[in-house]
This record gives sequence, C-alpha cells and structure tokens, in this order.
Amino acid sequence: MIHFDPDQKIFRLISDRSVSMMAVHPAGGLGFLYWGKTPAPEVEQGFTQEWEEKTRDITPNTDLNMVRRDFADFGHNDLRTPAYLVELKDGSRITEFHYLSHEILPGKPDFPGLPSSQVLSEDQVQTLRLTLIDQPTGLEIDLFYTLYPHRDMLVRRSRIRNKGTQAVKVLKFATLGLDLPPEDYHLVSFGGAWARERMFQERPLLQGTVRLESRRGISSHEMNPFAMVTKGRASEDQGEVFGFALAYSGNWLLEAEVHQTGWLRLNMGLSDFGFQWFLAPGETFTAPECLMAYSPSGFDAISQTYHSFVRDRVCRGKWAQKPRPILINNWEATYFDFKHEDILRIAKTAAQTGVEMMVLDDGWFGKRDKDDSSLGDWFVDLRKLPKGLPALSKEIHDLGLKFGLWFEPEMISPRSRLYEKHPDWCLHVNDRERKTARNQLVLDMTRPEVRDYLFDTIGRVLEETQVDYVKWDMNRSLTEVGSPSLPPERQGEVTHRYCLGVYELMERLNKRFPNVLFEGCAGGGGRFDLGILSYQPQIWSSDNMDGWDRLLIQYGTSFCYPALTQGSHIGSSPNQITRRESPLKWRALLAMSANLGVEADISKWSEGDRKELAGYISLYKEIRPLVQFGDFHRLEAPYDFARTAWMFTSRDQKEALLFIFQSTPPQGPGVKPVCLRGLDPALLYQIKGEGAAFTGEHLMSDGWLPKEFQTGRVPTLFHAALYRLQAGN
Ligand code: DGJ
Repeated sequence: MIHFDPDQKIFRLISDRSVSMMAVHPAGGLGFLYWGKTPAPEVEQGFTQEWEEKTRDITPNTDLNMVRRDFADFGHNDLRTPAYLVELKDGSRITEFHYLSHEILPGKPDFPGLPSSQVLSEDQVQTLRLTLIDQPTGLEIDLFYTLYPHRDMLVRRSRIRNKGTQAVKVLKFATLGLDLPPEDYHLVSFGGAWARERMFQERPLLQGTVRLESRRGISSHEMNPFAMVTKGRASEDQGEVFGFALAYSGNWLLEAEVHQTGWLRLNMGLSDFGFQWFLAPGETFTAPECLMAYSPSGFDAISQTYHSFVRDRVCRGKWAQKPRPILINNWEATYFDFKHEDILRIAKTAAQTGVEMMVLDDGWFGKRDKDDSSLGDWFVDLRKLPKGLPALSKEIHDLGLKFGLWFEPEMISPRSRLYEKHPDWCLHVNDRERKTARNQLVLDMTRPEVRDYLFDTIGRVLEETQVDYVKWDMNRSLTEVGSPSLPPERQGEVTHRYCLGVYELMERLNKRFPNVLFEGCAGGGGRFDLGILSYQPQIWSSDNMDGWDRLLIQYGTSFCYPALTQGSHIGSSPNQITRRESPLKWRALLAMSANLGVEADISKWSEGDRKELAGYISLYKEIRPLVQFGDFHRLEAPYDFARTAWMFTSRDQKEALLFIFQSTPPQGPGVKPVCLRGLDPALLYQIKGEGAAFTGEHLMSDGWLPKEFQTGRVPTLFHAALYRLQAGN
C-alpha cells in the first residue's frame, strides 16, 4: 500500500514482493529513492540517509548529477537526459518544477481516450498523485503512481497542465523518468523487422545513452515497446529484473543513460521525434501509461506478473476472458485470387478438421485484385463474391463455423473511390509529394469526419453481415505526417493525434459490436503492444510462420505477452516467405503454444495431412484452457542449444503441458534433461503415454528427457513433441 512519511517526506509504495520509494527534498525537487525487493532496515537507512545528506543543503549550485531524481528537468545542474522539455513563450527551455501537493487516492483515475489498465474491486489499488509546479509559468505536472499491491504492478502516468497565461510548446514529455544507482546493468530489448519481430536482445549498459524507439508512427516491428533492465545478466530464475511496458501504439522512446558516475537514468514514454504539443492556457496533455514490474528472481517471475496482468487487467471486453476460436485464414491459401466457391471449399474442409471460424482476408472489397487499389472502399466485390457477404457468411455459419473479415481501416489507396472523393483525407503536407508504401497512403485519423466515415462503412458491413471476428490490419509506416485540418503550431501533434484517433475508432466499434472479436495486425506483428491489446485482445504476431523463425518470435514475445494474445497459425511447407520446409507436427505444436489458427488451402492437402491436422485441432481443444489461461514458463532458449522447451501449468498445478522443439539432431549438451518449472514439488506427475511418473521436485531439479530426444533417436530436423502431465496421488 502507499504510505507517506511527513517528517522525511518519503512515499513508500509497498507491494507483496517489492517496494518503491519517492521523496521530496527540502528545496522541493523530487527523488526516486528506491525500487526493488523489500529493503532490509539497514539498507533503507543507508539510502535515505544518503538522500538526506545530498539534498539537505541543495543550493542553486549543487551538482545534481548524482542525486536520485524522479522525472528530471532540463537546464540546471543535472546534465543527464531529461524526462521532459518545454519551450516557453520567450524561446527559453528552462523550467524548474517543485513539489506542490500530493494525494493518495483509492483506485485509479480515468483517462478517457488512452489505453488504461482496469481496476477490479479485489485489487485494493491506490494511486499516488504528486503535483509539481513551475512557479514562474504556472505550469503544473501531475505524476501518477498506481499500485496493484497484490499483482506487484506499478502503473505510471504523467500529465502537464497549463495554468499560466501564455501558451507553451511541449517538446518532450515522457511517462516516467527515474534513476538507479551504479551497478552492472544489462538491457533486454525485443528488436526485429518485418517477419522477425521481437527477437530477444541483451546488451550490457556502458557509459552513454541507448535509445530504443519507434519513429514509424506505429509501435513497430523494429523495436517492441517492452524492455527490461537487469542487474548483471539475469536468467529465468536468477537476477533482479526491472520491466517497462508502455501501453502505446505510436512513436515511443526508452532512454537508458549510464552517466559518468555510473548512475543509470531511465526515461520511457512518447518519442520526441518530430513531436511538439502546443499547450494553450487552460489545456492539459496526458501521456500514455507504463507498466513497471519487478522480479527479484529472473525472467520467469516477471513474465508471470505481466502475463496475468495483461490477461486480466489490460485486455477488456467480452472476449478478454473467453477461450478463443480456432480459425482458418485464406490469405496464404489464395492471396487476392479467390471466388465464393474457393472460400467455401476451404471452409468446408476446415469444418471437417474441427476448425471453428473461417476468416476472409484481404481482397473481398472494391476492385482489389492486387495490393494497388481499393483501400477505403469497404463495399463487397461482386465479381469475386456474387452472392454478397451476408450470403457467404450464412453458408459458412451453416457449416457450423463462425465468420471473420479483414479490414485495413486506416488506409486509403490512391486508386479508390474514396480517394477520388476525398483526396485530402490522407496524411499529407500541402502540395508535397505523397509517398506511397505498398501502394497506399495513410488516412488522416486525426480528423473526426474520417473516423465517422470508417465507423459508418465498417459498421454497415458488420451489421449487414453476420461477422463474428474482425482482423484489423495496418500495413505501412507514417510518412509526410501532416494534417491540413490542424493549424501550423499543431502539426507536431499529428502522429500522437493519429494514434488517439485510432483508439477512438476502436473504442466506438467495440461498444457498437461488443460480441465481435477484434484481432490487431500490422503487416504481421508491427503493432504488438499493450495499447492495442486494451482494445483488441489478440494480435497476429508475424507474417512469418516458418518453423524456425516462429520459434524465435514466440520465444521473444512471451517475455511480456501471454500466449492467449498471440495469434499463431499452422502454415504450409515449404514456408511461403522463407521457402524452408518443416514437418507438420513442428508447425502445429508451435501454433498450439499460442492462440491457434490455420493458414493454408487444406482442401489441397493430402488425406493423411488433413487427418493429422484434425488430430492436432482436437488435441488443442482439450488443452486450450491450459494454453490460453494457464501459466507459461520458458525452460530452454532457442539460442542456447538446438533445443527449445517451454511449458504451461494449470493454476492449481495439477496439470501441465511440456513442449520440446529439437531443431537439429541433438549433440553434446543438447541431450541433458529438461528441467521443468511451475509444478508442485510434492505432487507425483504421470506423463501420459510414457508410462512414467515423477515428483514435481524431481522434474524441476533433476529434469526429464523423453526417450525420443536422446542422442541418435531424433528422426528428423525439426522434431517436436508435446507431453501432458497429470498429478495423481
Ligand atoms: C498483412 C497481414 O499481416 C497478413 O496476414 C495479410 O492480412 C495481409 N496483410 C493482407 O494484405
């Protein structure tokens, strides 16, 4: 819970497994004193005393570079990277915010228009609001610290208010900024590119500044807005880990600066790239929220904290807690080249194999025979679907399947009826050239009339057709970012306003169609973040379904995001992007480790393959509750040996699933037993079909290696297996 000590002016935010402490120094500045496991009294005494000594006699000349600061400013004796920057009317950029007041509130304030994690009655959540003021200008900053004490989650947000008489320009405004004392810090990030999203990357933090960011207008394939800082190198069960997950889908930035003194400054929030917010008197600007979690014992624990929080508090709506249907998607089966009969043929075969939903992907609207036209014209193409969408949907429902449909709402093709009518509706700057990517331009989502058009046209399709699911795609970065609907001084706001516009449209459609399951997508996983997840509870994680690449993608994604949120499909072999071949079992078990789908023309598969697929689908139906709502544990990383292993355990620890992926025949250390996690040490677990039973203690400390993974026995490249464990007496 949150306590305030009025004598020391220290705030203590106490969770079940961690503590964070902020303080106000006598001159009025703010300090971030501590974050970590509950400190021993002598440790706490050490740093509070140090804080008092350093801040007792702060004068304008005091060197602040070694003071632990919170949301540090610019222009004074702290030359480290500031959390914010404001340009005043006279062109100066110097402000000095001092403590004005604070309040400890029950629950969490509402911030409409921005993704916001929910509070349920059992959470016993409290929020500390600290208000700072820059006296000469009347500007105020609110810092919010919302503590979920039993979930070990600290949710941060910041807000700036112009209570002065003159407009200012906000040039940078992070969500959080904090300092950590000298240590051998490492930074874990999830970088990548299209078709290889969220690759685990780890680097030591040396003197200087590392910027992790997106400048693409979306959170991006290039770098995911989730990162961890570790003390030394952490492993799954060792090392202190500090996690930062930004609930935002646009340009973002994390700065990690190791100062000459060894102190680490961390800022995270909106990117300052091309950003400027005009703040007129009376106006307020609110930053997105950031989820901070701490683990004293490695990555596994921090992933548990994020997984359950994302599943239970970030994802909202009817589908958040519901098992997700197994879908088949026609994209890699047909691309743009399909007719009513093709979709029906795929759906019929899919129904026979146990699939639960048919998703019609790109190409059903306008005159879209390839990717060079029709985005924005959300009217069915009767050449391809002469009976129309409602009839197709009905025929699919008659097969016992749900029906899903693809949209790319935020885009406009220069070759479209919409563009003929509204050439000014795309992002653009005066008469400068509008550069296309994938032959398309980006709609100006800052404009209410654009959002209304999308709400009406997409809404009409969903109303007329029985649509159970929408795949919301977004296939390019933002360029020529400008909006003629905003005045010159507000052009620096366009990228952020774009993102707010997207959120608004998503929210309106969610409210109007509460039963529809929305899945986010951006050229695969280019916008896989907590912002999207708070509107759309699952996201297509990558266009790449290749057996090897997917392993790395799902491994990286799993550090923050639970399996339920991650769409994963069984594709064809050879893979259509990499041309690599992999056995069906391998592809199936990978997809079954997340939110399962299929993406291939299975009507053209051999009888044998279809039968095998039906077996996996039926097995997935049995294990779905465990995969989608159980606890996920990484056991072996794809980078260490040629073997990867992970598992799921039920909340009561009575059931477990062990997945092993051996990419080449085992050699050397590859044959060591796999040590399991998350079991009850005292229970005896039967391993189904293996005629073996071991205690949880044995499986976790000594491990187990199935016969088929021992030297010389693995039959193929890419050999995978799934074992089901059941606790008996
Ligand atoms: C990109 C997506 O990631 C794919 O799954 C597919 O929907 C295409 N777009 C369609 O254009």
